[in-house]
Amino acid sequence: MAAHLQIVVPRIAANEIVLRPFESTDADAVTGSGYSFAIEVGDECVGQIGLWLHEMRHGRATVGYWIRPARRRRGHALAALQVLSTWAWTLPDVHRLHLHTDPTNKASWLTAERAGYEREGLLRSWQEIAGERRDMFVYGSVRPACHRR
Ligand SMILES: CC(C)(COP(=O)(O)OP(=O)(O)OC[C@H]1O[C@@H](n2cnc3c(N)ncnc32)[C@H](O)[C@@H]1OP(=O)(O)O)[C@@H](O)C(=O)NCCC(=O)NCCS
Repeated sequence: MAAHLQIVVPRIAANEIVLRPFESTDADAVTGSGYSFAIEVGDECVGQIGLWLHEMRHGRATVGYWIRPARRRRGHALAALQVLSTWAWTLPDVHRLHLHTDPTNKASWLTAERAGYEREGLLRSWQEIAGERRDMFVYGSVRPACHRR
């Protein structure tokens, strides 16, 4: 999947969760930088989850997510990450999904672990946040055998 191709963000429904195109980031789809989904439960948008394609020439895609504070601790991030990850393996050129999370962000790395991602290491001084160099855990998941060609 080449970058800078217009991509179509699908609507994915699974049980009580629906991932639908996140309108405010249509530009991401147009530039081919990734798939951005609103996470809907019932008719309510509870958060966002994205699959970013900046490393697709290497077969890698990056996942990121957030849930509105008032809707946290109800399993929505976990459900959305499971749905997104399953769907991502239908994209033939994706071989690895990964995400970076601050070691103090237990909610984030527990969500990744519950969805089957493995902690692969600590990336020291990985990025600058608010003027400070921060370490990041890296979590990864690789294409399951049942989805290999
Ligand atoms: C991280 C975040 C998306 C989790 O969303 P959520 O919907 O509350 O998560 P879930 O309810 O699906 O919980 C998933 C797991 O994390 C645990 N968890 C969630 N919040 C937690 C917290 N504050 N402290 C400890 N564990 C927590 C849950 O108990 C669950 O584990 P379990 O199955 O063992 O019970 C949310 O806290 C958030 O939006 N944070 C700010 C943005 C962010 O950090 N994004 C991630 C960047 S990579």
